[in-house]
Amino acid sequence: MHTLFAPIIDSLATRGYAICDDFLPENLVNDLAKIALKRQQNGELSAAKTGKNSKNANAKLRGDYTQWLDENDVEAAIQAYFSQMDALRSALNASLFMGLQSFETHFAIYPVGGAYQRHLDQFAGAENARQLSSILYLNNHWQADDGGELRLYLGENAISEINLDILPSGGKLVLFLSAKFWHEVLPAKRARMSLTGWFRARENLI
Ligand code: OGA
Ligand code: MN
Repeated sequence: MHTLFAPIIDSLATRGYAICDDFLPENLVNDLAKIALKRQQNGELSAAKTGKNSKNANAKLRGDYTQWLDENDVEAAIQAYFSQMDALRSALNASLFMGLQSFETHFAIYPVGGAYQRHLDQFAGAENARQLSSILYLNNHWQADDGGELRLYLGENAISEINLDILPSGGKLVLFLSAKFWHEVLPAKRARMSLTGWFRARENLI
């Protein structure tokens, strides 16, 4: 198995979340960051929506701009990202029997001051679909006082005082069980870029 995956699997099994500082090589992370910026400048990203039917653009709840991707993207860097996430999906299924069937992902860019209030990554009525949340940060040389931390609540519910603040440094991958961890994005002093995704199980079509 990929040596990078072993500590990730271990941490997911024991804690329900994992942080990997250098998940992708720096040149690939830089290429992905450049693509995200270029597409933003071309107006290809749009104000993010919340809720299952994605009708509500709600800047108060979340301030990011997104572009959904697919694995047939013209950019080799995006194809490489998809193939690494698919290798991770297979490894998770083989070791933890997670039954992950697919992966959905988008670029996300938060302008300066943008945030995402505390939330869970599952939609009402689709509780089984999103199993594992994944965020790969694309920010070069992020400093502690740039802000923009991902705040992960480690207790049983949203009002837990126990939390972990994770800097969105380039190349870092964060994974957590989508049903279990409330989280939020704190405002940043710089624009903040990521590839955010979810591994999904088969949906119950009732
Ligand atoms: C999300 C989210 C966290 C982050 O997009 O649902 O919680 O650190 N993102 O970007
Ligand atoms: Mn989220």
